[in-house]
Amino acid sequence: MENDRLITKEEQKKLKLDYIGDFEKGVFSPPKLLDLACEMQLDAIGDFVPLTFKANLRQFEDEIDAYKDTWVPYLHREGLMNDRQGLNLVGLPGDTPTDSLSMPEAMKRTGRKLNELDFDTPTQLYYDLPSLHPILNYFPKLGRCSLVKVNTGGWFPAHRDGVLLQRKTFRIVVFLTNTSNMCYEWEHDYRIRQIEEGRAYYIDTKKAHRTHAYVNDSIHLVMNIPKTYENVMRVCNLMDAAES
Ligand SMILES: [Fe+2]
Repeated sequence: MENDRLITKEEQKKLKLDYIGDFEKGVFSPPKLLDLACEMQLDAIGDFVPLTFKANLRQFEDEIDAYKDTWVPYLHREGLMNDRQGLNLVGLPGDTPTDSLSMPEAMKRTGRKLNELDFDTPTQLYYDLPSLHPILNYFPKLGRCSLVKVNTGGWFPAHRDGVLLQRKTFRIVVFLTNTSNMCYEWEHDYRIRQIEEGRAYYIDTKKAHRTHAYVNDSIHLVMNIPKTYENVMRVCNLMDAAES
């Protein structure tokens, strides 16, 4: 394992957020009215919402085969065996598909604090996966997007992403190969959720979630979507169960 991709125990401690401390220091302000409007509308449609986009998995498998020997470690932590890998799909300017993609690793390699919107540049991988273009090209701009591959026994422990209502992006996850409930588990807000392989979901990652793979090559796409009211409306247009 390459050392610059390993997050040490010391670095892990520094990653812990201090909400009240940072607020008192003025690191962030209370949410704005537009934050509340976006968050309440997203909350109104659900927290694990199937969308109309469904990937052609046979086509995706053919396309991703070219990358089979290039997957890089995803957020490996000191002292833990956890078989998960990734590929960088929308990264920092100049990034390649094999540059580290998790936020702690990207901050370590660039030496600066980053947010999801700093990642705005499609890598070659983006162009090599036409099977995902209908959902990727649906939004005028994207934040950090990654393919995540979890192998047998790999997991993400219970955590939350972007808890504050001031978050700059929200997430859509597309469940790709080996993500049916027989292969993969996503517990969300303390309940196991049903997953349809190939389908995109709006997922409220402010809520606690943990995942686990029972087989190799369980792949999903994590998209960070800039939180604008227009993008919230675009998600509403994609709801699988819509108003009629
Ligand atoms: Fe997460």
